[in-house]
Amino acid sequence: MSRSPFLHPFARPAAQAEEFITIVRGDGATVWDDKDNEYVDGLASLWYCNVGHARWEIVDFVASQMAVLENYNTFDIFTNETVERFAAFVAAAAPVPDSRIFFTSSGSEAVDTAIKLARLTHSLSGHPERNAIVGRKNSYHGVTYGGLSAQGLPLNQEHFGPLIETVHQIDAQDIADAESLFAQHGASIAAVIAEPVQGAGGVYPPSPGYLQRLRELCTEHGALLIFDEVITGFGRLGTWFAAEFYDVVPDMITFAKACTSGYLPLGGVVVGSAVLDVIEADPQFILRHGFTYSGHPTACAAALANTALLLEENLFDRVPVIAERIGGGLAKLVEAGALVESRGVGGIWSAVLPEGMAAPAVRNAMLERGVIARPIGASVIAFCPPLVISDEQLDACVAALADSISAFPSYRTA
Ligand SMILES: Cc1ncc(COP(=O)(O)O)c(C=O)c1O
Repeated sequence: MSRSPFLHPFARPAAQAEEFITIVRGDGATVWDDKDNEYVDGLASLWYCNVGHARWEIVDFVASQMAVLENYNTFDIFTNETVERFAAFVAAAAPVPDSRIFFTSSGSEAVDTAIKLARLTHSLSGHPERNAIVGRKNSYHGVTYGGLSAQGLPLNQEHFGPLIETVHQIDAQDIADAESLFAQHGASIAAVIAEPVQGAGGVYPPSPGYLQRLRELCTEHGALLIFDEVITGFGRLGTWFAAEFYDVVPDMITFAKACTSGYLPLGGVVVGSAVLDVIEADPQFILRHGFTYSGHPTACAAALANTALLLEENLFDRVPVIAERIGGGLAKLVEAGALVESRGVGGIWSAVLPEGMAAPAVRNAMLERGVIARPIGASVIAFCPPLVISDEQLDACVAALADSISAFPSYRTA
């Protein structure tokens, strides 16, 4: 047994090097490990690889950008053509009128940017006391302090305190909780942040009317509404953004992951007029926020090539097929009593395992059957495949789960 020099994210630091699976190559919705085992990538790596692996269109476009200008910073007076093009693309695709795009390199940075922009907006408007952030239970908003504080997964927060103090958590499904919080604290709320479909917390679509009512409450009380679309953005529901799918206009949208399908790290915030009108008002005001790699042209080249593929190959049309084959397949397993529940919408789904069946063990059994899915907590298995996945591979995802469940000792004796 040996210890890897690589300290892994979201893993046991005590894990030995032999416990890791070394992925060596990919193609479409398939990846291979160093022992030449083949897997269906049932989670698009980590909810991001929408156009699939080994897309030479992206590789070539990135290489041609790098050959001309690998990067030049965009602080202060500098810009580049590639970031301007991708910003124009996102602003046109997002259902937020007259928006502008702030770029980051990750979802966590995007969330912290949106939280800072919300507080900045109220402070510049003469209301620094309006600084509370509202998050929802079970939500995931990344690991930097803003998103870590706002998220509703307490295990991720353990030992990392103190967190940002002015955060309220509301129920993720029952809008009455938001209504009573606004009634009590409305004047101090800077923003509400919500994943339209909660992903990393176990895949929970919103209850009917929830997002619409949240929009109304924010408008009534002068708070900003941030949609965290780090998973749902760039096609997961068959639209560029879930905001369009649910027909709700937020004030800001955070995105990352599928904007490049993960070929290079890129994220950002769609910033709407409720923020822009305030920060643009004083011509001398300087936005003192930004990352060294905000507006990185090579990352934006990956994003332009990626979005071109999503369009040219009509990949959003695959989303109803994923819903039918994975969503429909899981529903049948629920009917058959093999699962407790299934949840999801569009291209993102989860299965709740029977009592006593551990999700990591089921994940391992699925790996042996050639499918990668993600265990969440004790009892959930999530699917979020590349949009290029074939019908056969979708069926293989469900079959591997069904097989793994029936092979599980406690299920056999149940
Ligand atoms: C909804 C949501 N927000 C934020 C993040 C954080 O993104 P990153 O890991 O790129 O920092 C994630 C990552 O899974 C996410 O799902």
